[in-house]
Amino acid sequence: MSNPKSATANAEQSEAWNGTTGIKWVRFQDRLDRMLAPFGDALLAKAAIKSGERVLDIGCGCGATTIEAAKFTGSSGRTLGIDLSAPMTAHARDLATAAKSTAEFAVTDAFTHDFGKDSFDLLISRFGVMFFDDPVGAFTNMRRALTPQGRMVFICWRPLPENEWISAPMRAARSLIPPVPPADPYAPGPGAFAEKERVTSILEKADFKNVTHSAIDLPLSIGASLDEALEQSMEIGPLSRLIADLDDTVKTNVRQAVRGELAKYLTPDGSVILSSAAWVVSATV
Ligand SMILES: C[S@@+](CC[C@H](N)C(=O)[O-])C[C@H]1O[C@@H](n2cnc3c(N)ncnc32)[C@H](O)[C@@H]1O
Repeated sequence: MSNPKSATANAEQSEAWNGTTGIKWVRFQDRLDRMLAPFGDALLAKAAIKSGERVLDIGCGCGATTIEAAKFTGSSGRTLGIDLSAPMTAHARDLATAAKSTAEFAVTDAFTHDFGKDSFDLLISRFGVMFFDDPVGAFTNMRRALTPQGRMVFICWRPLPENEWISAPMRAARSLIPPVPPADPYAPGPGAFAEKERVTSILEKADFKNVTHSAIDLPLSIGASLDEALEQSMEIGPLSRLIADLDDTVKTNVRQAVRGELAKYLTPDGSVILSSAAWVVSATV
């Protein structure tokens, strides 16, 4: 049956993750995985994967969480990572091959893909479920893939002010860039699932039960040096999108201001550490 929404659903996200954003995530994969590893660990601790289970990793990106999960499912289980991004999925496959992992990968959209009914025991995601144009539709589709005993665990960011690693560079740049109209807080993007009540409502509308939120606060190292941290802030994430089309002089001024701000967070070993705040969300079928 054709899905009338499928032709245009998530088109903007698909373009970004198959274009500049996805290519940058591949370029910085090693660093991003080091930065996000503690969140993946928290996710997998909550998920408590058992040998033989079938696990679906949504928005798996370059595959770090999928490869980790596959260590638990073992050869009697199955771990599939799916993602909109062809370049990131290709990189995930290369990393899985190098690690001799059983993890499998597919380039597809979590909203439209037919996963087959009752084909997974567990859905997981590390920051990969906040980008849907129609979140209720996407979670309804993913829920169909779960068995009647199925469960889901994902990680998403809490509000921006609690995430200094995003808000501090933004604050430094604000007076140097043209005013930005207030953004829709629910627009697909990293902050879309910050509000606990909204996420609970989306999941309940998609017929998930027993929705829980646990807050997780972690000091986040955004670079092993000031230069690395500056590159991270300027190249990836919300600030990079705001400055992408500005002229070089403005970018140079922003770079200088952000460097000054990040220097306040330098630690004795040279790394730059800021606060971060996320939700570990769980639900059952
Ligand atoms: C912030 S990245 C996280 C990647 C990975 N989970 C990690 O932790 O490194 C978000 C990922 O979600 C993917 N994504 C966004 N919308 C999607 C959709 N509708 N279906 C599948 N993947 C999607 C993006 O392509 C991107 O790889």
